[in-house]
Amino acid sequence: MNPQIPSTIETVDQVFLYIFGISALLLIGITATMIYFIVRYHWRRHPHAEPSPRYNIWLEITWTTIPTLIVLGMFWYGWNGYLTLLNVPENALDIEVTARKWDWTFTYENGKTSNRLVVPAKRPIRLAITSLDVVHSLYIPAFRIKKDALPGFTTYVWFEAPRADTYDLFCAEYCGVAHSSMITVVEALPEERFSRWLVEKAEKEADGEAEPGRELLTRHGCNACHSLDGTKMIGPTFKGLFGHTVTVTTDGRKRELTVDRDYLRRSILEPGADLVEGYPPVMPPYQGRISDEELDALVEFLAEQTGNGT
Ligand code: CUA
Repeated sequence: MNPQIPSTIETVDQVFLYIFGISALLLIGITATMIYFIVRYHWRRHPHAEPSPRYNIWLEITWTTIPTLIVLGMFWYGWNGYLTLLNVPENALDIEVTARKWDWTFTYENGKTSNRLVVPAKRPIRLAITSLDVVHSLYIPAFRIKKDALPGFTTYVWFEAPRADTYDLFCAEYCGVAHSSMITVVEALPEERFSRWLVEKAEKEADGEAEPGRELLTRHGCNACHSLDGTKMIGPTFKGLFGHTVTVTTDGRKRELTVDRDYLRRSILEPGADLVEGYPPVMPPYQGRISDEELDALVEFLAEQTGNGT
């Protein structure tokens, strides 16, 4: 650990408390003075205006110096905090963050991916953040960090979870209809549990041994908008999809079609081609974002999983 390096929490809290403290003092001071003056200089006590001194050098010096020091103090705390947020401790663990409409993918050095940000507690973590589509913003209030995720660009931020616990993680940039579903968690684990987690197979795969299809749904964020169990989400559920008839809009005209492999494939690559009735045209096209093998595996998985019953 680096006890000499303050955490993002301490440093941001310092600035916050300083500015909040000064503001509270000023609010109370000015309000109290105002009330005192209202009483003290009430017109009944002073029916006629009295001449007041035009100039007082010490008053001028005082009310110039004190606010200058206060503001310089804000700069000092702010600048220090900025440097702390900028300087990543050397032993930081690197994790890549990919934002997309509408979920997050966290990729670890060994290639493991997850939709939750799992980290070791009490160790600095450096996030390299990017976006596949629009501007998102990674926001973890508990660690006082917020950083934009921009397409075609990488931004960085670091933090350290003070103890093993679960912390909220939000998208803080309005990014479309399912913006609010970009909520997930930071799961800080004790170091040895984290090391174990890192080498485990993808989540929930322990039972049923390797369901690559399910893993693909997670990796490409499909499950952020489509459920497997019939739950209504942003997009149509996958349940009972394959082999069934759906009403779609193709080139502005309604038609019915039976869901087959070609339809699934086309709907992944060009979601707008046949738009299912009752759903907004919001899914990003996966053309160029998913490999042929992955697409095949995904279509097979959906064909198998969603064929029986409604
Ligand atoms: Cu992503 Cu809001």
